[in-house]
Amino acid sequence: MIKMVKTRLGIDLGTRNSAAAFVDESGESVIVHFQESETADLKRRYGNEAKHIFPSVVAYDRYGECMHVGEMATRFEGAFWDVKRYLGKSYEEALKEKEKLKHPYTVIRGSDGEAKFKIGEKEVLPEEILSELLKKIKIDAEKHYNRLYGSEIRFDRIKITVPAYFGRNHKIATKRAGEFAGFENIHLIPEPVAAAIACMHAGKFDEDDRYALVFDLGAGTLDIVIVDHRILKKASDEEIEKLKLMDITGNIELGGDDMDSKIVDWVIGELKKDKIDVNDDYIEEIQKKVEQAKIDLSTDLTASIHLDRLGKSITLTREKLEGLISEMPLSGKGQPFLEKCRTELNNGFKNAKIGKDEIDKVLLIGGPTKMPIIRKMIKEEIGDCIIEDHEISPMLCVAEGACLKDIPIIVGKPYGLIKYDQFEEVAKKGVTMPIRKTVTWDILPSETRIPIHIVQEKEHPYYDTIGKEYDILVDPTIGNVQRADITFKLSREEELDITVEYGGSKIELPLKSRKLFKTKESNLMDLLIKEFVGDKSNYNTSYVMVAATHAMLSAVNLSEFMEKSDQGKVKEAKNNLESYFNVVHIHIIRKLSELINEFGITEKNIKEGIDEEVRQRMREIGKALEGRKDFLEVKENMEVLGRVLGDATRRMRWSVEQAKEERVKAKTVLEKGMTVRNQRGDEMPKEVSGRIEDKIAELDRAIVDLETEMKNAVMLERGVDGGNILKVSHLQVELDALLELA
Ligand SMILES: Nc1ncnc2c1ncn2[C@@H]1O[C@H](COP(=O)(O)OP(=O)(O)OP(=O)(O)O)[C@@H](O)[C@H]1O
Ligand SMILES: [Mg+2]
Repeated sequence: MIKMVKTRLGIDLGTRNSAAAFVDESGESVIVHFQESETADLKRRYGNEAKHIFPSVVAYDRYGECMHVGEMATRFEGAFWDVKRYLGKSYEEALKEKEKLKHPYTVIRGSDGEAKFKIGEKEVLPEEILSELLKKIKIDAEKHYNRLYGSEIRFDRIKITVPAYFGRNHKIATKRAGEFAGFENIHLIPEPVAAAIACMHAGKFDEDDRYALVFDLGAGTLDIVIVDHRILKKASDEEIEKLKLMDITGNIELGGDDMDSKIVDWVIGELKKDKIDVNDDYIEEIQKKVEQAKIDLSTDLTASIHLDRLGKSITLTREKLEGLISEMPLSGKGQPFLEKCRTELNNGFKNAKIGKDEIDKVLLIGGPTKMPIIRKMIKEEIGDCIIEDHEISPMLCVAEGACLKDIPIIVGKPYGLIKYDQFEEVAKKGVTMPIRKTVTWDILPSETRIPIHIVQEKEHPYYDTIGKEYDILVDPTIGNVQRADITFKLSREEELDITVEYGGSKIELPLKSRKLFKTKESNLMDLLIKEFVGDKSNYNTSYVMVAATHAMLSAVNLSEFMEKSDQGKVKEAKNNLESYFNVVHIHIIRKLSELINEFGITEKNIKEGIDEEVRQRMREIGKALEGRKDFLEVKENMEVLGRVLGDATRRMRWSVEQAKEERVKAKTVLEKGMTVRNQRGDEMPKEVSGRIEDKIAELDRAIVDLETEMKNAVMLERGVDGGNILKVSHLQVELDALLELA
């Protein structure tokens, strides 16, 4: 049987780049290798690490169907990148972001005030776009595992990293990205803490080190935490229960992207001086070339920005770049980039109430920390205790740490209750969840209601309770009781429950459910899938989905009886097919669950016959599916599996041939035996000759059955359950024994 291994997968879902790592059988982390990322372009940027970097880019076609993700998507103009910066944001916040970063996206307002993108005819949430990345990363991780160890892998826990400073809306949206990707058992892990874990695992902290500062400046976020190494060290391998961070600070809108935006402004200004007017058509090329120049300037002193479309080249020096980020304020106001970073760093120390001289190690994470000016600022502020990047990779250690340990999620922004216009803190930032806290509310005689209003620092209130007021009415007949206990429960995954105990009764606040769709298919969904796949007018989709299922089934059933080398090939082909099949399957479930919601479909409706309108929509879903890249991959991989299975079955056919030879041999031996005995005047006992003849007949039938079954398996119509193969070989053994007697 194919060996099946279960392990954890850590995904660093970055604004610009993602990475992933899993734990192998010996408990060590393995960074996933993305074969598609081995391009000259990515190698130029990230050197040897390019193969581990998965660009967080998704390309859609004009109908809003996802075409490509990762490196392939970077080649398409109009692809989506930096989507993490829109996660969990309101429409208004997203518009500001779009303007600041000069993104060409069409941002629209969702029904709860949330930001969505209009892509073709579709309205897509940022987390849906990110889910496309997550799906592909998981597929590639499975492939990598299979290439390395030849066994099948099931990731039983998927950990997605988030900036420690992310608020609740952002975290909920990240988790939903995982749900959209069809993942179950998703854990969120704070990025800088994951990096510290990887660093400790690699032995980069000294035994007596106490405080370590993690400064994580990525493409979109700055995250600063101070961790106590003594606590990290003590934590058990599996879970760091009481990880109290000394401090956590940052800015989820500050990163390499903001620098790029400043440089783009400067380039546009330079072009203007030459009377070249830049319209929107040129922006994407300028952005890409500017980013490359900025990266080059971490090692070189000058870089050229070649703008092919405009036929123009502009030189950017390191001096100029440093000038731009240390002098020019962001968005035309406020502090310059470098000063913002410095301020956040100093805020961290103020809150942690420790001195900078108490920091033993500084861990720099994220691409922009490779810039000499950023490193210089850190050295000026904290001193020379930076762990060098050849010791630990600033681009990959977040993913690595994420798969190594279960790190609980941390409160990024404090929670509080608004009481008589004052903020009463319920959960402090930096503490780990789960949290349970009860706040007492003394009701004044004049009060007729208790307004429950929870806020999280600067959070926009669109998702659920936060920011919304719930009224608990005070019952005047209760007399003098006049106090209420409000209990907050934040689960390990930051899910919030609030109960109010007042006048002897307990009230649970009706918080909105956050799950968009169920990952486990319900009965209703099963029925609808059957209708969808069984619909003859969905011919291509139905055929591919059914045939792929059978191909995979055949692979599982047949592989046990194959030669070792065939087993490996079949397994790999089946794995590839399965990954894409799962993605498509999840997509179908999602589309069908939209239909269920839209039409209010019930099991009864399905049993009584589906409306023509619904059926028509199912056909449209089928048609749209046919253009999707992952659907095409299912077809392609199904053909590959078909070929591999065909080869393997041909070799199995050879063993059928052998069985046939055995049969011929049996007949000959039987006849010879009879002749010899006849000559000796002694008859073969009826019982023996009869049994041999019966066995030969049985073998005949088994060979025919097996041949038919194998033919069907090759045509991918049906699985071979192996029963006939076993039967043939058993019969061969029995015949051999009988022939001895003959
Ligand atoms: N050598 C370099 N010098 C300067 N900047 C760099 C370098 N390498 C990468 N960058 C910049 O770093 C950013 C990408 O870094 P990284 O992959 O760490 O971010 P991310 O993980 O995608 O973002 P975040 O952590 O904010 O979600 C981009 O802005 C990129 O231009
Ligand atoms: Mg990052």
